[in-house]
This record gives sequence, C-alpha cells and structure tokens, in this order.
Amino acid sequence: MVEVSASLLGLKNENTIQTLYNLETAKIDYFHIDVMDGEFVENNTANRMIEYCEYLNSISNLPLDVHLMVKDVSSYISSFLVFEPNIITFHLEVARDKEQIMEWIKVIKENNVRVGISVKPDTKIEEVEEFLPFIHLVLVMTVEPGKGGQELIPKTVEKIRALKRYVQDKKIEVDIEADGGINLDTVGFVKEAGADIIVSGSAITNSDNYADMVEKLKR
Ligand code: DX5
Ligand code: ZN
Repeated sequence: MVEVSASLLGLKNENTIQTLYNLETAKIDYFHIDVMDGEFVENNTANRMIEYCEYLNSISNLPLDVHLMVKDVSSYISSFLVFEPNIITFHLEVARDKEQIMEWIKVIKENNVRVGISVKPDTKIEEVEEFLPFIHLVLVMTVEPGKGGQELIPKTVEKIRALKRYVQDKKIEVDIEADGGINLDTVGFVKEAGADIIVSGSAITNSDNYADMVEKLKR
C-alpha cells in the first residue's frame, strides 16, 4: 500500500481552512508543501506555503512533507525547520558540489528531520546514488517542477523502477516518492514501478470526494 502526500499547490484561496480540514479527514498521510522561490522555478509560493504550515501546525498532527524548489536551500531549510516537518527535500540540481549537498543533509538531520533529494525528469537517477546511504527519501519528479495539473512524463516511471532495483540490490533503506501528474490513470504505473509514497495535487483537490479519491489512489 502506498502512502499519499497531498500537494497544496492547487488550493483555492476562498476556503483554505475547510479544504485543509477535509484533506486531513480524507486520510492522507502527509501534507505536501510545494515551496517555490520564483528563481529555481518561475512561480513563487513561499509565503503562501508558510501560511499553510503556520495554520497546519495549529490544527493538524499530520506530518509535513516539504518540497523545496528553491536555489537558496540553506535559508529555506531554516524557514521551514520552525514547523518541525517530517521531511525536507531539496533539488540535486541546485547544488554547487557534493560538499554542499552533504552540508544540507547534515543540517536537516541534526534537526531530526528526514532528508529527501529530488531529481527533475531530465536528471539521471544515477546522479543521486552516492547520496543514498545518507538520506531517507528520493523524490522522483514525474513532471517538470513549477506547477500543478501537468501530465505525467512516462520516461520518469523507468527512473523509479531503476532506483527501486538499485536500492533493493544494495539493501539501502530509502523511500521513493513520485511527484507530479499522478491520478487514477497513472498511479498504477508508478506503484508497479516501486514508489512508496505518491504526491497528488489536482487529482485530489479537483475531485468532489477527497476521501474516495485518496482511498482509490492508495488501493
Ligand atoms: C510541481 C509540484 C508537485 C505538483 C503536484 O512542481 O512539485 O507537487 O504540485 O500536483 P499535480 O498532482 O496536480 O501534478
Ligand atoms: Zn512537489
């Protein structure tokens, strides 16, 4: 059974509180917090995501799965550590070198938060292998980062499969999370390829019954 991390990117402003409450009661496993800085990707969602986290910290015990699509990883790690998230994920592509990645891993870990590294569709999955012994999760982007409601890119499913095979062969304990374009038509491929956690945004928030959609995605 996969876990479901619901992306809040597509939340409409009018009934945010009600929507967050409905998501929680729909039995999602994580709130997926898509933090965009307007530099790594065009959109800027940082302030809105901080607002959501402030609110969630006061009403919910569900874990926060923070996905940093930002250039200045260090400062965003600090900004989101205050919410005591379960996971903080940064993008491999923004690092200057291995030392910087190991530094980010260290800062996140010493704050008792699980570390994720995310790779864009065109980044080879082999590039994350050397970091696997030090992290908890790989976030495989199944769309180009930057916005919700996109179509899943089929070639990314093979990256999930290759990564799953690699971590099983090497007996490395790391979760594989898939993110982007995941709905009832695509979730089967992603699960079959080996994803442990799936991110879903528009498939859930555009549905008229969150609990029903979440249950179907998990099945
Ligand atoms: C895209 C984000 C994804 C996206 C998922 O940059 O990382 O989490 O919001 O939304 P859907 O499920 O609508 O593709
Ligand atoms: Zn995301």
